[in-house]
Amino acid sequence: MWGGRFSAGPSAIMEEINASIDIDRRLWREDIAGSRAHAQMLAAKGIISDADVAEIDRGLTQIESEIESGSFSFSAALEDIHMNIEARLKEIIGAPAGRLHTARSRNDQVATDFRLWCRQACDDLDTALGALQRALATRAGQHADTIMPGFTHLQSAQPVTFGHHCLAYVEMFARDRGRFQDARKRLNASPLGAAALAGTSFPIDRDATARALGFDAPMANSLDAVSARDFAAELLGAAAICATHISRLAEEIVIWSSAQFSFVTLSDDFSTGSSIMPQKKNPDAAELCRAKAGRIIGDLNGLLIMLKGLPLAYSKDMQEDKEQTFDAIDALALCLAAMTGMIESLTVNKPAMRDAAASGFATATDLADWLVRALGLPFREAHHVTGALVAMAEKKGCDLPDLTLEEIQSVHADVSGDIFSVLSVENSVASRISFGGTAPENVRQQAERWLKELEGTGS
Ligand code: ARG
Repeated sequence: MWGGRFSAGPSAIMEEINASIDIDRRLWREDIAGSRAHAQMLAAKGIISDADVAEIDRGLTQIESEIESGSFSFSAALEDIHMNIEARLKEIIGAPAGRLHTARSRNDQVATDFRLWCRQACDDLDTALGALQRALATRAGQHADTIMPGFTHLQSAQPVTFGHHCLAYVEMFARDRGRFQDARKRLNASPLGAAALAGTSFPIDRDATARALGFDAPMANSLDAVSARDFAAELLGAAAICATHISRLAEEIVIWSSAQFSFVTLSDDFSTGSSIMPQKKNPDAAELCRAKAGRIIGDLNGLLIMLKGLPLAYSKDMQEDKEQTFDAIDALALCLAAMTGMIESLTVNKPAMRDAAASGFATATDLADWLVRALGLPFREAHHVTGALVAMAEKKGCDLPDLTLEEIQSVHADVSGDIFSVLSVENSVASRISFGGTAPENVRQQAERWLKELEGTGS
């Protein structure tokens, strides 16, 4: 009836669209943990016997080792990880397997498993972000006084240090960690026992299962417990922001490693060659980090759009939440590892950075500030005088420090030779001592503070 794509009948199509086992098999550990907690609670409340729970436990242990060793055979006909495990449990222990699903539904089961998975993802991402921060803070300590151009509009603006630039990302990634930690706090509540949507008539103990699974508390509304996916949206929201930060750093690496900039050289480990152009060394890992940010943002979008029209409680649409979440978290974990590797192994080309910092009249602001400080000019007038000096240097084809005192005095007669002390890029960065500024002393202190804070974090 459906034409050429399928050789088998509609039931095969139904099976294909319905099955999620290829995606949700990753939840097997969480599913087994959830079943153990549930069975134990059922026995403690006298809903099933101790003999049943012992059998269930034995069967789940065997399933665990079968999945771990790769001998477990997953079946699409059994739809998802929950039914695959339950069916196998029945094969192993027989009748008691049927009692496990008392006072439980796949709706609260999948919500429980998925929350547990997302909680672990928050912890793993936190660790990976810690490692990236450490790599950046280490580079910052090594390059506290390595001068590079600071840009606005990608035009040379004022000199900064490479260490300062690295620490900017350390700060961003600290906020990303905060977002994952925050998401973790909110997601750590237990849906288990909400059953299909309305709760159950069995005398279950939801506090006990919540505690056994490390949740802070059971969720207070059964409809919310099975319907909520904002925990995944929040995780992906944090992931999308973090990926955006990685993408910006990746973009900078692409620019810095170009022959025109030559600020950094990527290690061979984190670059590729061209099959036709022998001179090329391409920043593929950085480019892919940049691209994967788009994909992660897309996953967040897909999840929100899937959710936005769903009435309470469970709808099958929600089965599609996992593929997007796994995709986003896998991509982000890979980007974090690749970025950490790139940062740790890249070589910094100090002379190229310094030369670029000294070109483009990067100390013009320092010159204007000197006119304000030494001659008492209003800043607007100092700005004007400096503009004229920049125009003069441009016309002469030289830089600001290359102008003679006579030339400078032709624009403003009161200028003294002292002005040359502020025109070097070294003096410029050294003078930026305000809190959060780029002065090497500041950068050294901040790098040390971060390295101390990050001790013992990361992998
Ligand atoms: N595989 C399903 C999912 O991931 C499990 C829940 C199925 N519930 C149901 N009522 N059909 O969403």
